[in-house]
Amino acid sequence: MRALKNRKGKLNSKWISPLTIPEIDFILKKMNKGKESEPALTEYHVQPKVKIHKRINEASVQIKKILSDIRNEGNIQQKSVEVIKSKIAPVIAETAKNPDIYYLFEEMQTKNEYTYNHNIGVGIIATYLGMKLGLSKESLSELTLAATLHDVGKTRIPESILEKPGKLTATEYEEMKRHTIYGYELLKNIPDIPPSIALSALQHHEREDGQGYPLRLKGNDIHHHSKIVAIADVFHAMSSNRVYHQAMPFYRVIEQMNRDMFGKFNPEILLAFVNQLMSTLVGKEVMLTNERLGTIIMINPYDPLKVLMKTSTGIIDLRMEKEMQIERIIG
Ligand SMILES: [Fe+2]
Repeated sequence: MRALKNRKGKLNSKWISPLTIPEIDFILKKMNKGKESEPALTEYHVQPKVKIHKRINEASVQIKKILSDIRNEGNIQQKSVEVIKSKIAPVIAETAKNPDIYYLFEEMQTKNEYTYNHNIGVGIIATYLGMKLGLSKESLSELTLAATLHDVGKTRIPESILEKPGKLTATEYEEMKRHTIYGYELLKNIPDIPPSIALSALQHHEREDGQGYPLRLKGNDIHHHSKIVAIADVFHAMSSNRVYHQAMPFYRVIEQMNRDMFGKFNPEILLAFVNQLMSTLVGKEVMLTNERLGTIIMINPYDPLKVLMKTSTGIIDLRMEKEMQIERIIG
């Protein structure tokens, strides 16, 4: 460990890092060099963001129409499944390859029609997470479909409950919770789609500690895809404007998920997710709780919120700063 000097040239025992600034600069340069030759990343930067934006919007319009048909007809037509598989899922899969999930987050916060965009948003986040977890191609396509249709049971919930701006009554809340069962019933008998799709609709509000609904299942009884969809669902809900709450800033969402959700979500999936989200912040400028500014240069994989930062006066290792945290991302 090396102690770093403060502005007056004195050693400051608070700023301790295993690496010097030149050493970290060298590592970052090396990391960026690797990224420059990565085809997926280059492709994304070349492809205008506006194109992805347009395709997400088109997918949102298509899912809106499909959900409206399901609400009116009371069931899912085979042609709707085909549109989801052939038109919507490919847009989701392509968008999930985007390495800049922070951009996607900003994209989500600009949307107003929560219900329709929620399906696409959860599809993208779950697929992104599934890719990072190394799921097979086949499993990943199932997951995309499961995540996109996870809330399909809400088409059987009266709009007066879905759109209610205030708190739901106990009876309304019980009915709202039944969207999981309705979704399962809608999906379980559709030919050509695997059982995990219906299971994700049924289980995405179950929690590892058995405190979820509708069946209060515990860890091993919950399908792996349902666990991924559950995390994507909560992340998207916290990140979006709703009738009853304002969207939370990106870093607050990560912090709250990291703090409150262990025990409720599968710890390996959650840690992988938080790690991935935090790693998108490497290179971004942030403000700390003491108003000091700095740039994130490294993420600790076992404690991803305790990052290593470069400031104008030295390196700060947040693992060693109990009182200091990131307040917000500047850009
Ligand atoms: Fe749900």
